[in-house]
Amino acid sequence: MVYLDHAATTEVRPEVVADVAAELGALGNPSSLHAHGRGARRTVEEARERVADALGSTPHEVVFTGGGTESDNIAIKGLYWARNAEDPRRRRILVSAVEHHAALDPARWMADHQGARFETLPVDELGRVSPRTLREALAAAPETVALVSVMWANNEVGTVQPVAELAAVAAEYGVPFHTDAVQAVGVEPVDFAASGVSALTVSGHKLGGPVGAGALLVARGLGPVPVLHGGGQERDIRSGTLSPPLLRGLATAVGLAVGEREEHAKHLADLRDALEEGVRDAVSDVVVNGDRDRRLPGISHLSFPGCEGDALLMLLDARGISCSTGSACSAGVAQPSHVLLAMGADADTALSSLRLSLGRTSTPEDVAALVAAIGPAVERARAARAKRRTPR
Ligand SMILES: Cc1ncc(COP(=O)(O)O)c(C=O)c1O
Repeated sequence: MVYLDHAATTEVRPEVVADVAAELGALGNPSSLHAHGRGARRTVEEARERVADALGSTPHEVVFTGGGTESDNIAIKGLYWARNAEDPRRRRILVSAVEHHAALDPARWMADHQGARFETLPVDELGRVSPRTLREALAAAPETVALVSVMWANNEVGTVQPVAELAAVAAEYGVPFHTDAVQAVGVEPVDFAASGVSALTVSGHKLGGPVGAGALLVARGLGPVPVLHGGGQERDIRSGTLSPPLLRGLATAVGLAVGEREEHAKHLADLRDALEEGVRDAVSDVVVNGDRDRRLPGISHLSFPGCEGDALLMLLDARGISCSTGSACSAGVAQPSHVLLAMGADADTALSSLRLSLGRTSTPEDVAALVAAIGPAVERARAARAKRRTPR
């Protein structure tokens, strides 16, 4: 079996499994005042310090959450509510057109249900948001903007955004800037303080940590209104009993991923380059999407003209190779990815794509298996599509 879908989720590292297991049997709620509770609290606070150290924030700025989706929701809804309460003119939420649904959908929901104005920042054909575009969107009426959200790196095509430059533009206008760094931590130099962003999303299961643990880094002075109400944990930003085992595992994963980043990114880029070379030899008209000068090292997003991505995925699956198309499915019909459409691709091209994503355990043998399988799979997918399109 060959796994080329590490951007969807990747193996939990053995060190993390050991840490989570060591903690699972421990008794105590971190909010309790007695010795059991204090022990659990110590585990959580150590995890907070390790996450802060690895990501360039202070421990106080780390808000633990259940993962990327939750962090994005708190950032977008919570910052909107806080800023709009201070000044009701602040109704605009500016998000890039290529955000993950975890950021796009809360912004849209706020427009549908909370009186916000949802505005997308367009991207170029490589998937980049230009600082000039953001400046134009802000300059006309900065007093009407609640927040800006642009991801650090895209989960489908891997394009890395000029986050520090974009954050600097938002800061000039005094507008909070959130970034979803779920795909970036461990492969890009993510430093919260140095980047100048106001809030940053992290998810454990994309970097060798457990599913169900993540964090939102929130700069001092920003108080997102809570989405969940309850026991007031995490400075009242995220109520809910904290999980010492998962948070210890998250901290170990983040620490290891950040510590090994350069070496790991090189390992991924070498494999990715070999993969793309091999695929190009097998399928001469393959198109590589995204910004080839500035993209994540572990993601290769490829379009195969004349094929349906879904058919390719199933043909590769039958050969024991797991990958992704990136396109969503609605009522059983594949929908073109909003990311590819925003980059100017037509629906056919968008639907002809595969995302192959590499991880820590990927090997040259995985790449060789994909390269051997892709030519015949493309031929079959093209034949099937041509047959379907020929009128009887
Ligand atoms: C860029 C990005 N943001 C957010 C998420 C959601 O994270 P989680 O699965 O931890 O909720 C993902 C996961 O696919 C992602 O790739």
